[in-house]
Amino acid sequence: MKKILITGANGLLGQALVEIFAGHFQVVATSREGQAVAPAAGVTHLPLDIRDARACKSVIREVRPDAIINAAAYTNVDGCEYEKSHCWEVNVKGVENLAQAARRNMALLVQLSTDYIFDGTNGPYGEDDPPNPLGYYGKSKLAAENVVRMTGIPYAIIRTNVIYGTGNGIKNNFFLWIYHSLKAGKQINVVTDQYNNPILAQELAEGIRLLVEKSQYGVYHLAGKAYLSRYEFAVQVAEVFGFPRERVRPVTTAELGQTAPRPMRGGLKIDLAMRELGFAPAPLQAVLTSLKSNVEAG
Ligand SMILES: NC(=O)c1ccc[n+]([C@@H]2O[C@H](COP(=O)([O-])OP(=O)(O)OC[C@H]3O[C@@H](n4cnc5c(N)ncnc54)[C@H](OP(=O)(O)O)[C@@H]3O)[C@@H](O)[C@H]2O)c1
Repeated sequence: MKKILITGANGLLGQALVEIFAGHFQVVATSREGQAVAPAAGVTHLPLDIRDARACKSVIREVRPDAIINAAAYTNVDGCEYEKSHCWEVNVKGVENLAQAARRNMALLVQLSTDYIFDGTNGPYGEDDPPNPLGYYGKSKLAAENVVRMTGIPYAIIRTNVIYGTGNGIKNNFFLWIYHSLKAGKQINVVTDQYNNPILAQELAEGIRLLVEKSQYGVYHLAGKAYLSRYEFAVQVAEVFGFPRERVRPVTTAELGQTAPRPMRGGLKIDLAMRELGFAPAPLQAVLTSLKSNVEAG
């Protein structure tokens, strides 16, 4: 059975990866805390801060994984504009540490990246479209892609966008912000001019599982089926969860004034992953309906 090391295992995607991979592979999860927020049967959990090169080496030497999935990152897009050096330490140096450590046993490194490496003038984007990040987060993630390419190890770069879902003690994501705000009876302002194709964390984890199962290398775009604006997504959440849709107020990006510049027509074409990996995300309404049962159950 293949042995898989997951970093950032307490994050939104990290938790979904542990859940999806646990039944298929031998999984070693790692996090800065060193303790699982959502323990899974048969999964070992170790402490690992990916900024620590020596710790990366010793964990990888000890575990000897066939594949490393790096779900650890500094993901606060606006925060990256203020905390550039921290962003670089985690998102670029951390990846370099893992890639160097992976050289010892030539483990496959699966690096998560983003549609924010594109400028959003012409999305959704294909794998070979030229990158041109607008903000520091996107710049750091593109630099990380280049680090992975240059190290000479087997690698897969998975670009995704707007991951949503629930988990134990996770930070707010776009879906949770909509859900909690509407549930509290608040009005929310959501942009009508930022487009992408959001994906449920478990669907993304399943796509990564297919890639690891097939030992596929290279760059793949894994994202949801529906390409729509953030406003349209929020309205769909309101409708499926039974909140008044008038509480979702349409605004433009210019009106909202976010710190970091955002790609307007972002998002990712997923044809390659569908063809080569058998990636098959469900229609948005079906995904939200199943998420509703999960959220309401727990
Ligand atoms: N979320 C999105 O919409 C989105 C879109 C495109 C791409 N991605 C990419 O997908 C990946 C997973 O994102 P996510 O949504 O699951 O993010 P997340 O929920 O923020 O999880 C990231 C995890 O990394 C951990 N981490 C941060 N610094 C670390 C370090 N130095 N060493 C070890 N762990 C560290 C965080 O721990 P702390 O909480 O303790 O900091 C957190 O648990 C990232 O590479 C991200 O760039 C995300």
